[in-house]
Amino acid sequence: MSREKIQIFDTTLRDGEQVPGCKLNKDEKIAIAKKLDELGVDVIEAGFPISSPGDFDSVRAISRMVVSACVCGLTRAKKKDIECAARALEKAKKPRIHTGIGTSESHIKYKFNASPQEIIDRATEAVSFARRYVEDVEFYAEDAGRTDNAFLARVCKEVIKAGATVLNIPDTTGYCLPEQYGNKIKYLRNHVEGIEKVVISCHCHNDLGLATANAIAGILNGARQIECTINGIGERAGNTSLEEVAMILKQHTALNFYTNIRSEMLTSMSHLVSESMGMMVQPNKAIVGSNAFAHSSGIHQDGVIKNRETYEIINPKEVGIHKSSIILTARSGRSALAYRLKKIGYEITKTQLDDLYPIFLDMADQKKEIGDEDLEILIEQYAGKQKNDIIHKNPRRK
Ligand code: KIV
Ligand code: ZN
Repeated sequence: MSREKIQIFDTTLRDGEQVPGCKLNKDEKIAIAKKLDELGVDVIEAGFPISSPGDFDSVRAISRMVVSACVCGLTRAKKKDIECAARALEKAKKPRIHTGIGTSESHIKYKFNASPQEIIDRATEAVSFARRYVEDVEFYAEDAGRTDNAFLARVCKEVIKAGATVLNIPDTTGYCLPEQYGNKIKYLRNHVEGIEKVVISCHCHNDLGLATANAIAGILNGARQIECTINGIGERAGNTSLEEVAMILKQHTALNFYTNIRSEMLTSMSHLVSESMGMMVQPNKAIVGSNAFAHSSGIHQDGVIKNRETYEIINPKEVGIHKSSIILTARSGRSALAYRLKKIGYEITKTQLDDLYPIFLDMADQKKEIGDEDLEILIEQYAGKQKNDIIHKNPRRK
C-alpha cells in the first residue's frame, strides 16, 4: 500500500504569534518563513493581514519571498478582511485565503447574536467572495470541537458548494478527547456531500494537553492536513506542535503516512523561533526540549551507553542533534562516570573507578549537575591523593 501524504500547515506566524509578549518584527517573520519553507512545510500561515499595517506588510513580504510553500492569510468572514488578505497575498506563487466564522452554540449566541442560518449565509458569502481572488480557499468553523455535528455538517456542505477547497475543523478551546475529535472527522466524512473534493484539516489547541493526540486522531479518521506551530506555541496553552506530528508520522511507519518535513532541521528551527520570540522551550518538551535526548538516571545511562535504542526511540541525528547526552548527577552510576571521563580524555581502570565513584557521589550530592570542569577537579583531587599520576590522560576526544 502506498503511503499517503499529510500536509503540514504551519501557523507559527499567526496563531503562534498571538502569544502575549512574543510579537515579531517583519525581518524576524521573514527569516522564520524562509526557514519554514526550507523545512518543507506545505502551507505557511503568514498572518492576519487586516489586524495591523505591520502584519499586512509582513504577509506581503513573505508572499514575495517564499519559494515552495503555499502562503496563507487569515480573515474573518468579512469582505474588508478578505479584500485586504487578497492584496497582501497578491505576489504569492500559491496564495490561500483562510476565512471562517464561529459555529458552536455559544459563538452563534454570544459572539454573533445570530441565527444558525445567518451563520451559514455569512460563511458561504465569505467563501464565494474569497474565491473571486484566489482558487485556494480554506474555511474554518471556529469552535468546531464544541459544535453539534449535524449543524457542522450543514455548514461544511454549504461552504464546499460555495467553493471551499480545504475544511478546517478547529478544536478552538482544546476541549475534545481524541476519540471525540476523531469521531467528528469521521462523522463529517460520512455525512457531508462533496467532502471527498476537499482536504479536511485539524487545528487543535492544547488546553488539556491533547492537541497532538487530537490531530493524530483526526488523521486516523480521514483528515489530511495538520495545522501546527513550532514548539507548539499559540493561544493560551498553544497548538499542536509541528515537531511532534512530524516525528510521530515518521516513527510510526505502520500508519503509512509521510510529510515533507526535513526532520534534521527541527532543532535549529525550534531555536530560531524560541530566540526570535524570546520564549524558552520547556526542557522536557518532546523532540526539541533540551532534555529530550538527555539521560540522567544510572539505569538508563547504563542502557544507552550499551545501546542507544534501549531508551531512545528516535536517533537524535534525525532531528539535528548530534549526540544523546549523559548527564552526571547523584543518580548516575559508574558506567556513566567512566563514559564521561573517557569523553574528556581520561581512561581509568575498574579499581580507579571504584575509588573515584564515592568521591564523585559526594560532589554530586552537593551540586545539581557535574560538568566537565567538575570532573577535572575530581581527577585532580583523586590523583593528588594517590601521589602519582595513575590516570592516563589521552588527547581530548569529541
Ligand atoms: O483556533 C481557532 O479556531 C483558530 C481559527 C481562527 C482557525 O485559530
Ligand atoms: Zn487556533
